[in-house]
Amino acid sequence: MPIYALGDKEPIIHPDAYVHPDATVIGDVTLRAFASVWPQAVLRGDSGSIQIGERTSVQDGSILHCTEFHPTVVGANCVIGHNVHIEGATVADNCLIASGSVLLNGSVVEEGAVLGAGAVMSFNGHIPARRMALGVPARIRENHEVAAMATVPIVDGYVERIKIYKAGLRRLD
Ligand SMILES: CC(C)(COP(=O)(O)OP(=O)(O)OC[C@H]1O[C@@H](n2cnc3c(N)ncnc32)[C@H](O)[C@@H]1OP(=O)(O)O)[C@@H](O)C(=O)NCCC(=O)NCCS
Repeated sequence: MPIYALGDKEPIIHPDAYVHPDATVIGDVTLRAFASVWPQAVLRGDSGSIQIGERTSVQDGSILHCTEFHPTVVGANCVIGHNVHIEGATVADNCLIASGSVLLNGSVVEEGAVLGAGAVMSFNGHIPARRMALGVPARIRENHEVAAMATVPIVDGYVERIKIYKAGLRRLD
C-alpha cells in the first residue's frame, strides 16, 4: 500500500480507516475512523493538508490535493464519488461530491449539499446547505432541497465494504 511520509509530514490513518493497496496517500493527510480510500485514488498532502472525516469514502480514481493557502477538508459521512478532483476546498458533513466532478480552490460545500456528476465548481465557489449544484460551470439548482441525510445508504455501504475488504481482499498475480 503506497503510503508515504514527505519530510516530517506523515499520514495519520485511524486503525479503523481503510486504504486500498492500490491507492496512494502522501504527506499531511488525516483519515478518521471508517474513512476509506479506494483503488487509484490519490491524496497528496504536500504543500498543505488533507483531512477526511469519519465514514467518508474517497472512491476510485479520485484525486485530492491542497495548497499552501487552501487545505482540503472533507467532513464526516460524505461520499466522494469516482474520478472526483478536489483541490483545496472545504466540504462539510453529509455531502455528495458526485462522480467526475471538480471542486476547486477555496470552494465551500455546506452541510448535506450535492455537487452533481460531471459538474465543475470553480475557485471560491459555494453550495449552501442541502442544495445541489449542477453543470459546467456549476449552478445551484432552483427550487430544490436535498433530502436530509441523503448520503446515509451509500455511506453505510462503504463502511460495510471496509470489513469485507479487510477480511477478504487477496492479490492473485
Ligand atoms: C445530481 C444527481 C443526484 C441528480 O439526480 P436527480 O435529482 O435524480 O436528477 P434527475 O435525473 O431527476 O434530473 C433532474 C434535472 O437535472 C438534470 N441533471 C441531472 N443530473 C445532472 C447532472 N449531473 N448534471 C447536469 N444536469 C443534471 C436533468 O437533466 C434534469 O433536467 P430537466 O429538469 O431540465 O429535465 C445525479 O446527477 C448525480 O450526480 N448522482 C450522483 C451519482 C454518484 O456520483 N454517486 C456516487 C458513487 S457511489
